[in-house]
Amino acid sequence: MPLSLAPPETATAVLADRLVLAAQNQPVDRLVLAAQNQPVDRPPVWMLRQAGRYLKSYRDLQEKYPSFRDRSEIPGLAVEISLQPYRAFKPDGVIFFSDILTPLAGMGVTFEIVDHKGPILAETVRSQAQVDALRPLNPEASLPFVGEILRTLCDELQGQVPVLGFVGAPWTLATYLVEGQNSTYYSVIKEMAWQEPVLLHQMLAQLACSIATYALYRVQNGAQMIQIFDSWAGHLTPQDYATFALPYQWQVIRAVKAIYPEVPVTLCVNASAALLPLMAKSGADVIHVDWAIPMAQARAVLGDRPVQGNLDPCVLLGSRELIRERTLDVIRQAGSRGHIMNLGQGILPNTPEENVRYFFDTVRSATCHS
Ligand code: CP3
Repeated sequence: MPLSLAPPETATAVLADRLVLAAQNQPVDRLVLAAQNQPVDRPPVWMLRQAGRYLKSYRDLQEKYPSFRDRSEIPGLAVEISLQPYRAFKPDGVIFFSDILTPLAGMGVTFEIVDHKGPILAETVRSQAQVDALRPLNPEASLPFVGEILRTLCDELQGQVPVLGFVGAPWTLATYLVEGQNSTYYSVIKEMAWQEPVLLHQMLAQLACSIATYALYRVQNGAQMIQIFDSWAGHLTPQDYATFALPYQWQVIRAVKAIYPEVPVTLCVNASAALLPLMAKSGADVIHVDWAIPMAQARAVLGDRPVQGNLDPCVLLGSRELIRERTLDVIRQAGSRGHIMNLGQGILPNTPEENVRYFFDTVRSATCHS
């Protein structure tokens, strides 16, 4: 049974909008509309990390091209990988296949992405001389493949669904520069925050300038939405988040919105339940919510601001009944407006593809009118 989530007057508005779009022969862009808090016929849906190892087609390419940097930097490969989940499940958006560390290469940082470990830097950045040596990013000169991949994706998709661009936020990128890899406690960067705050702020400010330039480059080359990942800012106390993460998120978001006010920006932080009120001050249009808080509770904190999330990715390891029940529950709790259905965090590599298909079909069976 389809869900009935919205009052009849919304249904009329939705139908009117759809008729206009159909008359203009334009695709119905649910994802951007929901991010702008406009009415939609059903919640748009895509998945964090929707391209990647849970897909057999990806693992086949991984065998042939073992280097992550090749897979994400050779345009033909990156375009193919970005489109694999679109062909399989028809999500309402295609995320550009890349990594948050990709732009660091253009700032003079050498790194590798190692399977099952994640990013590993050749050298950490901890001294004044090393921070001074970080190059301001010029994406056209140092990352021309990013523009080429985006333009090709847009050509291939012909506007059927939007292309999502993403960037890492300054705090999370700084954790990689300072710690050199993923960390459990982030104790080295926190020690730097206490012992050398001026140096850390200088690094964060330099990252904010370069990442803002990178986000704009993405939009200029066709990205219709931008997602900002501050994945490891959830390790900060709210007080430290307000000092070391929020001002730099704000700078990046402000740079995009100043030039492209219509391009929605989503902010995504892992383990963010206690930080939602601060995330709301970042200037982001959409706040991503992980599964550690019921969506209705996140709504109560965030009001009618658009939200994204928040299914536990492990639900996709369960039965069809569980997937359906939990998915529809999130949609019900989020309400009829301003919700982008998604997982609370990235999909796990051991997720069966048929469960992913069932998840997408379940969301497509929900409606926001009658
Ligand atoms: O489909 C998509 O969503 C686009 C792909 C994407 C990747 N990385 C590809 C990738 C996105 C959006 C990212 C962002 C990213 N990278 C984040 C923010 C999102 C989050 O999960 O919080 C972070 C923190 C990173 C850094 C990073 N890169 C990690 C922690 C890992 C995982 C290590 C592992 O092996 O599990 C990577 C590697 C990485 N990035 C993989 C993929 C598909 C896995 C390695 C591979 O496929 O070769």
